[in-house]
Amino acid sequence: MSKYIVEDTRKVTTHRLLEMKKCGKKIAMLTSYDYTMAKLVDNAGVDCILVGDSASNVMAGNLTTLPMTMDQMIYHARSVVRGVNRAFVVCDMPFGSYQVNATEGVKNAIRIMKETGCDCLKLEGGVEIADTVKRILDSGIPVMGHLGLTPQSINKFGTYTVRAREKAEAEKLINDARLLDELGCCGVVLEKIPASLATQVSKIVNMPTIGIGAGHETDGQVLVIDDMLGMDQAFAPKFLRRYANLAEIITDAIGQYVQDVKDVTFPNSEEEY
Ligand code: KIV
Repeated sequence: MSKYIVEDTRKVTTHRLLEMKKCGKKIAMLTSYDYTMAKLVDNAGVDCILVGDSASNVMAGNLTTLPMTMDQMIYHARSVVRGVNRAFVVCDMPFGSYQVNATEGVKNAIRIMKETGCDCLKLEGGVEIADTVKRILDSGIPVMGHLGLTPQSINKFGTYTVRAREKAEAEKLINDARLLDELGCCGVVLEKIPASLATQVSKIVNMPTIGIGAGHETDGQVLVIDDMLGMDQAFAPKFLRRYANLAEIITDAIGQYVQDVKDVTFPNSEEEY
């Protein structure tokens, strides 16, 4: 039995997230894309699970998140929801599902909620998508924002380097965060921005801020599960802390299996009928 099994099994809700911010309790968030991993993540006490469109990179091997479709996000989110009892499950709206207009955004948002059973949707952007965010919130669906490095706009940025170092972009980010907060978002992811800016935003807004590469003063942290478990040794950005080296553990285990099969030491007499 893991020493990290949580005793407080109450479901995490939008209300709990706001309470956590108010009383200074940090929010731990990780991504998951399938049932088995989501069950482990939930049991280990993670407060929020993000069914990220980073599935495009880590599950499907694409270079960007742009190819993800509604059907693919729904498949991943539905699988995750089946494995979760306690965590608040947030699903990314994929690129193209909410940028065209608010009506299409709401239609797609309702479809994801109906078909997955997730708790909340995450959309990238600020003022540009304000109408859509408002309409989705008006239909009763919790929304989490995402500002700073927004991977769905990677082709516009042309680089994965830190965002909002310049005054104009930092001011826009602050205004976008204020707007999302006023609209009633239940949180915002701040990705790869200077820690001082993330601290400032976290103090200004009522909603919880969840950082990734945004320093330690945000209200919570999020990492991509495959990255923090060390599934890809080549991916090593400064903000990433690796909590395991699963690539080595898995390769060793599989290598041992291959050897045992070839040596005819697996299965042995106790492993047969
Ligand atoms: O898709 C994702 O995993 C994300 C995180 C990087 C925040 O949006």
